[in-house]
Amino acid sequence: MVTREAVLKVLESVHDPELKRSLVQLNMVEDVEVEGGRVRVTIALTTRGCPLQDHIAADVERAVRGLPGVEDVEVHMVEMSKEKRDQLFGQTLSAPIAAADSRTRIIGVASGKGGVGKSTVTVNLGAALHRMGFDVAILDCDIYGFSVPRMMGIEGRRPVVVDGKIIPIPAHGMKVLSMGNFVDENTPVVWRGPMLGKILRQFLNDVVWGEPDFLLLDLPPGTGDMALDVAQLLPKAALLVVTTPQVVASNVALRAAQMAFKTNQKLLGVVENMSAFVCPCCGEATPIFGEGGGRAVAEQLGVPLLGTIPLTMEARTYGDKGIPVALADGSPAQAAYLALAQRVTAELGVTAG
Ligand SMILES: Nc1ncnc2c1ncn2[C@@H]1O[C@H](COP(=O)(O)OP(=O)(O)OP(=O)(O)O)[C@@H](O)[C@H]1O
Ligand SMILES: [Mg+2]
Repeated sequence: MVTREAVLKVLESVHDPELKRSLVQLNMVEDVEVEGGRVRVTIALTTRGCPLQDHIAADVERAVRGLPGVEDVEVHMVEMSKEKRDQLFGQTLSAPIAAADSRTRIIGVASGKGGVGKSTVTVNLGAALHRMGFDVAILDCDIYGFSVPRMMGIEGRRPVVVDGKIIPIPAHGMKVLSMGNFVDENTPVVWRGPMLGKILRQFLNDVVWGEPDFLLLDLPPGTGDMALDVAQLLPKAALLVVTTPQVVASNVALRAAQMAFKTNQKLLGVVENMSAFVCPCCGEATPIFGEGGGRAVAEQLGVPLLGTIPLTMEARTYGDKGIPVALADGSPAQAAYLALAQRVTAELGVTAG
């Protein structure tokens, strides 16, 4: 005989394709009705018109049909109640910086693909915002592949701990913290997914961030656990999506952005990095990685293209020296980052204090 419990058990193996956790664990199974061999499952979606609802429905149907005794399966989709969604995405933190009424604007820098320049954009947008007069903090959320310490020139520096509270490391006028400031550069960080949420929570709760104007989060590539943890713990964080001008790469960027829709996060806009190579001798711009990727992603998502950052030799050499290239006076990169910072602040409606 088919039982409700058996149906719930089998649904534990069905994962939300984007949130990558079981529908049961995500509290998305609203109802299960069993009448003889007929099963009716109601799934609560986080947003109405979820693009993957057909996919989820098919997975649920397949899983339930696999149960012995099941003759007919009906999958019904409803929208999740606000309370449930808040519970799913809005776990509270004691950190004042995360509070809904804190004046700190939180911006997560994301991408679908690795190596497109998230970390570079994070530290340089931070430097440009600081140059504009804002108080800026940077949290490296790339626990396994951290690169912020190197780019900010604080490799190997350990933070000061006072009364069990961690003081972020000052660098170029900003406050910075990364997993790299706690572990040895050559020690691989091997914690599994669920640990990431705990680390992020600790980075927020146990660190004396104060109330900066901006907290920038350098996110790991893709739509993995950390992206979900940020969405859960920092629902007020807005996302900036970085892509290269290559259209193939930008299709992957779309996926990272769709995650934001799914988790109800604000999508601030798109940044195209490595746009054109600016010749250091004549200043001529050559589109080595193609053209148009950033605009294409922005248009598809219905968000603005907030900036294009040229491919320059200095971006890498400064990065390797531990200085954000946005601090290189008169460089094309600096001009691009200042323009980006201005666009971002205009978009958020903030003015330097
Ligand atoms: N505009 C640019 N011009 C020249 N080099 C750049 C530019 N942007 C990034 N780079 C270089 O490209 C490499 C990758 O950049 P970065 O580490 O910022 O990417 P990422 O998206 O954070 O990568 P990961 O996914 O590994 O975290 C770095 O060596 C960086 O210095
Ligand atoms: Mg990175």
